[in-house]
Amino acid sequence: MAEITLKNLGHSYFPQPKSEEDYALKPVNLVWEDGKTYALLGPSGCGKTTMLNIISGLLHPSDGQLLFDGRDVTNKTTSERNIAQVFQFPVIYTTKSVRRNLSFPLECRDWDPKKISGRVAEVSEMLELDDILDMPARRLSADQKQLISLGRGLVRDDVSAVLLDEPLTVIDPQMKFSLRRKLREINRQTGTTMILVTHDQSEAMSFADEVVVMKDGRVQQSGRPEQLFERPENTFVGYFIGSPPINLFNVDVKGDRLNCPALALTDLPRGDLGPGALQIGIRPDHLNFSDPSESNAVAMVEACENLGIDRIVSLRAANGELFKVKSRLRQKIDVGSKLGVSVAHKDVLVFQDGVLT
Ligand SMILES: Nc1ncnc2c1ncn2[C@@H]1O[C@H](COP(=O)(O)OP(=O)(O)O)[C@@H](O)[C@H]1O
Ligand SMILES: [Mg+2]
Repeated sequence: MAEITLKNLGHSYFPQPKSEEDYALKPVNLVWEDGKTYALLGPSGCGKTTMLNIISGLLHPSDGQLLFDGRDVTNKTTSERNIAQVFQFPVIYTTKSVRRNLSFPLECRDWDPKKISGRVAEVSEMLELDDILDMPARRLSADQKQLISLGRGLVRDDVSAVLLDEPLTVIDPQMKFSLRRKLREINRQTGTTMILVTHDQSEAMSFADEVVVMKDGRVQQSGRPEQLFERPENTFVGYFIGSPPINLFNVDVKGDRLNCPALALTDLPRGDLGPGALQIGIRPDHLNFSDPSESNAVAMVEACENLGIDRIVSLRAANGELFKVKSRLRQKIDVGSKLGVSVAHKDVLVFQDGVLT
């Protein structure tokens, strides 16, 4: 196990990068604490795999250093780093049995045969592979092959960290849910640091102690799921985390105060801001319905989607702005009807040029 530190670490696939644009991973300082579960979250092409491959040693960074427990491992080989990595698509020996696929990483490290069979039994039971241990891997379905791949990543209990690069993509949703839980269980039992790459915010939020959000090769924010939800540092994080995404509203500046016409909010503190485009952000979960006759802000219902426990109501404010409310109210909501809308001041976030003030 190890604490993993990225020190001004960045990567450009170009031999002579000319500007920041040329970096798939812009130089970043980041610490992955020992024993935690992490999600590395961002849209496709934002540099997640690049970062993971640098940590495992498959890729040598063009800039900066990588430290394990304070020791510089930037020039160490993959095997010296002692990292297990699982990829998006199965990496297995199709000619070997499931059992040999799982035992092979341990045989290569000269583990005692008894210890190997014990460990293979544990991992195969956890991944529900125990009934097919003696089948040749090539005869299995795509998701069974991926489970073997996952098993190969988890079978060693002496690794510095387990890196999982979107390994659940090919697995069906029900199994995905139970695998995520099992991965967390393994983390609790063994204390092995786990980094799960995903582009799915709900997967990230339900799996990780901490989520690292990336966009265009840059780390946007890292923190506990509730921190990212309550205080997104920029509108991208507000938008990417949470479902539906954060609502953004226009504001008028009146001296040192802000007004939000859509929600009839006046007198919001402006804070100590320079010039720049201002918006306020409010989570759909933080807006409440009230009686239209008793509310300053009235909006018209444009759509209402029932999600079982919650409902997502799309509304149009009097000034034409569109927004969404997530509500547990059981009362009937008719399209075309008018509802009062309110919010607690503590749930209003002010963004300047897209950055939380
Ligand atoms: N081997 C490579 N050579 C050149 N460019 C690459 C290579 N691998 C990835 N890239 C580019 O780097 C960026 C980040 O890619 P990647 O790390 O794979 O993103 P993600 O895993 O988030 O989808 C993308 O623009 C991608 O096209
Ligand atoms: Mg990737």
